[in-house]
Amino acid sequence: MLSAPTQHRIALVTGITGQDGSYLAEFLLSKGYDVHGLVRRSSSFATGRIEHIYRDPHDAGARLHLHYGDLADGNSLERVLREVKPTEVYNLGAQSHVRVSFDMPVFTADIAGVGTLRLLEAVRVYREESGTPVRYYQASSSEMFGKVAEVPQSESTPFHPRSPYGVAKVFSHWATINYRESYGMHASCGILFNHESPRRGETFVTRKITRAVGRIKHGLQNQVFLGNLDAQRDWGFAGDYVEAMWLMLQQDEPDDYVVATGKTFSVREFAEKAFARVGLDWQKHVAYDPRYNRPAEVDLLLGDPAKARRKLGWEPRVDFDGLIAMMVDADVEMAAREKTLRDAGFQVGAME
Ligand code: NAP
Ligand code: GDD
Repeated sequence: MLSAPTQHRIALVTGITGQDGSYLAEFLLSKGYDVHGLVRRSSSFATGRIEHIYRDPHDAGARLHLHYGDLADGNSLERVLREVKPTEVYNLGAQSHVRVSFDMPVFTADIAGVGTLRLLEAVRVYREESGTPVRYYQASSSEMFGKVAEVPQSESTPFHPRSPYGVAKVFSHWATINYRESYGMHASCGILFNHESPRRGETFVTRKITRAVGRIKHGLQNQVFLGNLDAQRDWGFAGDYVEAMWLMLQQDEPDDYVVATGKTFSVREFAEKAFARVGLDWQKHVAYDPRYNRPAEVDLLLGDPAKARRKLGWEPRVDFDGLIAMMVDADVEMAAREKTLRDAGFQVGAME
């Protein structure tokens, strides 16, 4: 059941510079929230996905505020909570790349695992000291199901993570439930299945494919190297999924929810449809490179979003074909801009 807001709503979002953070910021601003984001210091700007909000001619830019902090640094989290005084905290920050988590397992565990505990503990102390009833959202993941015990996966499916990232997310998931049960915190976990968009990081498989489609279409490259084409994922649109995060925090009671489309497709099918969108045959452009395989793979993810539908009234709006069309069209446009730059003598390139 939706509970009516009783006070001015202030959200703190970790991971605001990421794919989901940018859509969530837009969504919360459209609902009238003041939105505060945690950003890490880096040698170059990482705010490309939220820059357009600052340029907003209306008041949204004025209601978006950024604060330096890091999930590795508990003191920074405590300071930001005291400054911002949030009513809702969304923990989206993480080293979120599964393949990279095998190369950086300790760092991944520190940020995607212990980082959650640092934030939960900071929220617990802030809540007790200030008397403010903060609501907390944890970005849990379908990667926790790993070597799946059943198909489809629901809130009651046992976890069997297959990567350092998945293990870290299981830790964070249970830490969040533990804070709910121990301290009565309004803390909810969204077990989100893969969700993509034109803002998806370029090394995740969907965006890697659609970037390649755009660049191949415009003659900027000829091939893309991929790993396991047989893996199956339940892919949705990130813009739809951030609404489910918000809905979880509007409920009277905290709980955990699977957020998914209920349909699964292989990487091969994604590639085939993405190339077909611009009239190209994927088999002429996709090559295999074992570098992109993982030491242990998650073969099949398929979510059962019945609980989210029933209790939150949440439904995905964008289907698989719609998602591919949206991503390919955006990347064809991006490649056209790159080509213009290249023709004008600028150096352009895409990392694999
Ligand atoms: P993303 O694009 O990789 O964004 C990750 C965000 O975390 C970025 O803003 C990044 O900042 C920030 N971050 C990284 N290390 C940090 C640190 N030490 N301290 C503070 N912030 C840090 O990921 P996403 O796709 O938006 O996903 C959002 C969250 O949902 C993640 O926790 C992810 O694991 C989880 N999730 C994602 C999916 C999915 O399919 N997208 C599915 C289930 C769960 P920089 O910009 O500075 O790197
Ligand atoms: N990244 C990548 N690059 N993946 C490839 C490639 C490639 O060249 N070739 C094949 N794949 C396969 C992977 O082996 C995997 O089975 C599948 O494509 C999807 O890979 P990713 O797009 O990297 O996503 P993921 O499923 O591993 O993880 C994403 O979804 C999780 C939710 O289940 C990330 O967003 C995680 O943060 C998220 O928790």
